Amino acid sequence: MDQSLPSTLENCHAELIALRQIHQQELERRQEVEDELRRSQQLLQLIMDTLPEAIFWKDRDGRYLGCNRNFADDAGLKNPADILGQDDYDMPWTKEEADFYRSCDRRVMDSNQPEFGIVEPQLNGDGEKIWLETNKAPLHNGEGHVIGILGTYQDITQRREAEIKLQELNQKLQRQAGELNSAMEELQRSQLQMIQNEKMSALGNLVAGVAHEINNPVTFLSGNLHPAQEYVRDLFKVLDLYQGALPELPPAIEEEMEDLELDFIREDLPKMLTSMGEGIRRVRDISVSLRTFSRADTASSTLFNVHEGLDSTLLILKHRIKVNDQRPPIQIEKQYGELPEINGFLGKLNQVFMNLLSNAIDALDEVSQKRSFQDCLENPNRITITTALDQGAEEVRIVIADNGPGISEGAREKIFEQYFTTKDVGKGTGLGLAISQQIVTQDHKGTLDFKSQLNEGSEFIITLPVKGANPMPPKVAS
Ligand SMILES: Nc1ncnc2c1ncn2[C@@H]1O[C@H](COP(=O)(O)OP(=O)(O)O)[C@@H](O)[C@H]1O
Ligand SMILES: [Mg+2]
Repeated sequence: MDQSLPSTLENCHAELIALRQIHQQELERRQEVEDELRRSQQLLQLIMDTLPEAIFWKDRDGRYLGCNRNFADDAGLKNPADILGQDDYDMPWTKEEADFYRSCDRRVMDSNQPEFGIVEPQLNGDGEKIWLETNKAPLHNGEGHVIGILGTYQDITQRREAEIKLQELNQKLQRQAGELNSAMEELQRSQLQMIQNEKMSALGNLVAGVAHEINNPVTFLSGNLHPAQEYVRDLFKVLDLYQGALPELPPAIEEEMEDLELDFIREDLPKMLTSMGEGIRRVRDISVSLRTFSRADTASSTLFNVHEGLDSTLLILKHRIKVNDQRPPIQIEKQYGELPEINGFLGKLNQVFMNLLSNAIDALDEVSQKRSFQDCLENPNRITITTALDQGAEEVRIVIADNGPGISEGAREKIFEQYFTTKDVGKGTGLGLAISQQIVTQDHKGTLDFKSQLNEGSEFIITLPVKGANPMPPKVAS
């Protein structure tokens, strides 16, 4: 150590100056880097604030690390920097919205897969509902680990509202088209009913006319029958008196009495008059039935006796039930239960019975053509009409069954359709069941169903609420 102390001190001083210079330079460089960093941060913020999207990023725990101006505005913050350290539950959105965003973030971070185009509603800082289209992507560190999430979204409220309006407009249009369709169907049904009503009305008039014409001579006959019986009794009484007063009759009279078989006449004449009375009673019953049926054009609901309706319809169809070239008469089996009168449209219900019964007759006639008369005798065609009170006396059930050919699988789903018929042109119109169903279900709030077994027969089941006829008069006045 030959260096003197002063020179050592000098060296130290020089070194200190050099070090200070280096430190000074270091400080200046650092200042420059920091300025540069601030400038690039400001540029980045400026870029982010200029974009139309709202931008935000969060750490793995859902805490905000930063956002741009748009996002800060939506979140009701004065400054984007104020977001630091806050989470979705500190934001003005509802708890449900915050939950939803959280679960979305977690999904993206767990799957490490971005999600684009998520459309969702949100309440903004002013409490208005807006629609957002959001994109979310995982943020990675240098080692590729997910450290958070970057999200952007755009306010698509206007587009969304336009879409919703379009959708509503579309739905309205579809509804209107549907309404138009049902109006059209309704119109078609009304038209069909008008046609059938017209026929029923014509038939009703005819029947009413016949009933009226029958009535006069029947009254005339029944009015005279009783005195005629008395006159006959009186005549025989006088004859007896003559015979008592003149035990020995002149031979010419005696002979004539024997020729005329006066004793037989005396016995038979009262019987003849009694059976004539029976005949007159039957004609009167027929006339009453005809009048019941002919009230087909009653436009308001009245109390209706189901059995009278069925019987008068059977009477009108009697000519079709009786024997013909192909077959013996169709057997009609009535199993009538105890029924109250129901509230209904008389003519319309008769129209239903008419349609169902004539369908059964058509079906039986069709098979009879393929069978021999003898076969028909041995296995008779039969229509069974059963009535009962059901559902705690709230409902009347009427079943019209036949042992005809049944309804084929293919026809089953179509038989209630308008114009569906399996009958030849001129024979079937395909309207009977469509109209009957409408009358039963719409005018009377009842049901019309059927069961059928091929080659065994068919049965049509009508249920009608006892009280329940539609209180309104039918739409189409007959
Ligand atoms: N009792 C029945 N037995 C067999 N088929 C039936 C019976 N009732 C109805 N159908 C079938 O339903 C079709 C439609 O009946 P309907 O609407 O009354 O029209 P239409 O009698 O004019 O054919 C008939 O063509 C027939 O095929
Ligand atoms: Mg028919």
